Amino acid sequence: MIIGICGSPRRMATEHVLSEALKMLTDQGFLTQLFTVRGKNISPCRHCDYCLKNKECVVEDDMYQLYPLFKEAEGFVIATPVYNGSLSAQTKIVLDRTRATLAADPKALLGKPGMAIAVGGDRIGGQEQAISQIHTFYILNGMIPISGGFFGANLGASFWSKDTLEGVKEDAEGFRSLRKTVKKFAQAIRPGIRPDSKSPDSK
Ligand SMILES: Cc1cc2nc3c(=O)[nH]c(=O)nc-3n(C[C@H](O)[C@H](O)[C@H](O)COP(=O)(O)O)c2cc1C
Repeated sequence: MIIGICGSPRRMATEHVLSEALKMLTDQGFLTQLFTVRGKNISPCRHCDYCLKNKECVVEDDMYQLYPLFKEAEGFVIATPVYNGSLSAQTKIVLDRTRATLAADPKALLGKPGMAIAVGGDRIGGQEQAISQIHTFYILNGMIPISGGFFGANLGASFWSKDTLEGVKEDAEGFRSLRKTVKKFAQAIRPGIRPDSKSPDSK
């Protein structure tokens, strides 16, 4: 199972792009699940260290819907809107709260591939910084950050929404970066997988 996590509080550009990414993966035979922070009650990590002793989080909120999926997931697709040149606070909170997962099992995420999607309202609004921050989370937890590849390189899927759903749907270059990254991500999870004809590479 591949888990897609949407860090936008709205059903708009980020959720649309993440749904498209998961559709591409479903078309290639992967089981996927989308988790969104929209409408959820997820508080920041308190750094109380309860999880280090008790192997679970003391804050009993909607993060408990996500904890079992972390363990189950073979791969992660984390999608964030760009807020102030980086992740949304909602995305960051989810990343911080995985501390409880790692406290229970330090190897819970080890070796799992992860890719990142960033959607900004501006053309160059901090998408790469947001992607790098998600990649840093992957690295810190022993995961494998996946880029779109080295020729026509991209770090991950980077979108320009112009602050609208229509804008993101029109971003052909963004979708090119998404297809490239999804292809590499699928190959990392299932080495030897034949690239889907619906998911062409850069061209
Ligand atoms: C608090 C806030 C800060 C934002 N900062 C940036 C920014 O630094 N760079 C940028 O490109 N877009 C920025 N935006 C615009 C959003 O990234 C853009 O509208 C995006 O499409 C939102 O994703 P959504 O449609 O999934 O909600 C900001 C939006 C908000 C609400």
